[in-house]
Amino acid sequence: MSPSRYTTRRDFLKRLGGTAAGAGAPWLVPDSVFGANPPSNRVHVALIGCGNQSRVDLPAVLRYDDVQVTAVCDVNKGSHGYARPEHFLGREPARQKVEEHYAKKASSGSFKGCDAYADFRDVLARDDVDAVMIVLPDHWHALAACMAARRGKDVYCQKPLTLTVHDGRQMIEAVRRHGRILQTGSQYRSNPTVRHACELVRNGRVGKIERVFSIVSGAPVGPGPGWNPMPVPDGFDYEMWLGPAPNAPYHADRCLYRFRFNLDYSGGQVTNTGAHSNDIVQWALGTDDTAPVEFEDTGSVWPPEGHLYNTAVTTSFRARYASGAELVCQTQDPGFGVRFEGTEGWVQYAEGKVTTHPESLADSQIGPDEIRLPISTNHYRNFLDCVKSREEPIEPVEVGHRTATICHVGNIAMRLKRKLRWDPQEEQFLDDDQANGMLQRPYREPWQL
Ligand SMILES: NC(=O)c1ccc[n+]([C@@H]2O[C@H](COP(=O)([O-])OP(=O)(O)OC[C@H]3O[C@@H](n4cnc5c(N)ncnc54)[C@H](O)[C@@H]3O)[C@@H](O)[C@H]2O)c1
Repeated sequence: MSPSRYTTRRDFLKRLGGTAAGAGAPWLVPDSVFGANPPSNRVHVALIGCGNQSRVDLPAVLRYDDVQVTAVCDVNKGSHGYARPEHFLGREPARQKVEEHYAKKASSGSFKGCDAYADFRDVLARDDVDAVMIVLPDHWHALAACMAARRGKDVYCQKPLTLTVHDGRQMIEAVRRHGRILQTGSQYRSNPTVRHACELVRNGRVGKIERVFSIVSGAPVGPGPGWNPMPVPDGFDYEMWLGPAPNAPYHADRCLYRFRFNLDYSGGQVTNTGAHSNDIVQWALGTDDTAPVEFEDTGSVWPPEGHLYNTAVTTSFRARYASGAELVCQTQDPGFGVRFEGTEGWVQYAEGKVTTHPESLADSQIGPDEIRLPISTNHYRNFLDCVKSREEPIEPVEVGHRTATICHVGNIAMRLKRKLRWDPQEEQFLDDDQANGMLQRPYREPWQL
C-alpha cells in the first residue's frame, strides 16, 4: 500500500511544488479557517456530484477543520430539474456553499478557493486533491472510482457501490492495485444502535439464525407508455450525465434523483434502500466475504412495458445462505429495516431502534470475551481518519461489493422469475448463461472501465 499523503512534510512540499501552476492553492488561506491544522495535515477533498445526497455529504466533511473542500463538480451548473423545486443544487450552488462556510470562519469574513468543474476528469487531474466523494448516480460509481484510484485519490463512494457485479470486481482491482482507501457510503455501519443489534445476532443471543427479513421501500410509478422526451435544460450536460449508459432521449424523470427507478442507471429500491438493509444483514451474519447460494423471486411486481421507470415496484425475493439461513428481501412498511429470527428469539432494527424477543435482550450487554464488531461512530470521520492512517475503513471496497452483489443478484432473480444458484467464490450463476450475461453491462463509447 502506498504511504499516506500526510506522513511527511517533504511529501507535502513536493506536492506544493508540483501544483503551483494548478487550479487551486489550498495553502493560501487564513489559519483561522482551519484551526490549528496546517495544510500538510488537511485532507483536500473534492465533491463529485452535487445533487440530493450531497446536501448530507458536503456539510458532513465541511465541519472538520482538517478537511479542505477544494473542488466541487457536477454536470448541472445551477439548480435545474431536481426532484424538489426548493432544492438548490448543482455545482455553482455547491461552490457557493463551500465558500460561504469558510468565509464565516475567516477573520476577513470572505473566502475564495473552491473551484467548480463540469467534468470530473479535470478534478482528478489536480495533484492537490487527496480524496474524492463520489455522490453520482450508480451507473457512474465504478468508472469514477476506478479513475480516481488510478490517479492516486482515496474515495468515499456512495452506496450502492456498483451497478453490476462485474463493476465491483474492477473497483476492487483498481483500489488494491493503487493502494487507495475506499469507504462505501453505507453509513449504518457507523451507527452504534445497528452495531449493537448485529452484535446480539453475532453472539447467538437469539440462537441459530433461521430467517432474516430485509425490508425495502416500494417504488413510484413513472411516466407511462408514450411519454414525450423533453428539451435538455440550459446548463445541464446531459451527454456527460448519461456517460457510459445507453443513449436515450432526455426526460426530467430519467435524471436527477429519479435515475434510481431506471435499470440503465440503477436497480430500483432493492439497490437503493436494499443497499442499507442487506448491508446490515451481511454485518450481523458475519458473511461479508460471501453471499447466499440460492435466490428466487417470490412475487415481485414490475411496471408494464414502456414505462420510463422500469425497476420493480414491489421487491420480493428469497435467498438462502450456505448456513441454511433464509434471507427474505421485500417491500413492506416502514420501508426500511431488518429482523433476525433465531431458534431462541428475534432481534429487529427499524425506525432507529432495536426491539427484541425476549424484550430484555435489547439491553443485554456484550461481554469483553464476546465478538465485538469494529467501532466507528461517524462514517465520514472514519474515512478521513483512514485516509490519514492508511488503515482499512469500516466498509472497504470488498464489503461494499458483496452487499451490492446481493442486491444485483436478487434483482436478476426477480427479473428472470426463476430460482438461481449462485457461486459466491466464482461470483457466477451455476448453469445459467442468461443470468450470467446480466452480471455485466456494455459501456457506451468512448467510456471504458
Ligand atoms: N447513503 C445514503 O443514505 C444515500 C442517500 C441518498 C442517495 N445516496 C446515493 O447517492 C448517489 C447520488 O444520489 P442522489 O440522490 O444525490 O442523486 P441526484 O441525482 O440528486 O444527484 C446526483 C448528482 O450527480 C450529478 N452527475 C451525474 N452525472 C455526473 C457526472 N458525470 N459528473 C458530475 N456530476 C454528475 C447530477 O447532475 C446530480 O446533481 C446515489 O448512488 C445514491 O444511491 C445515498
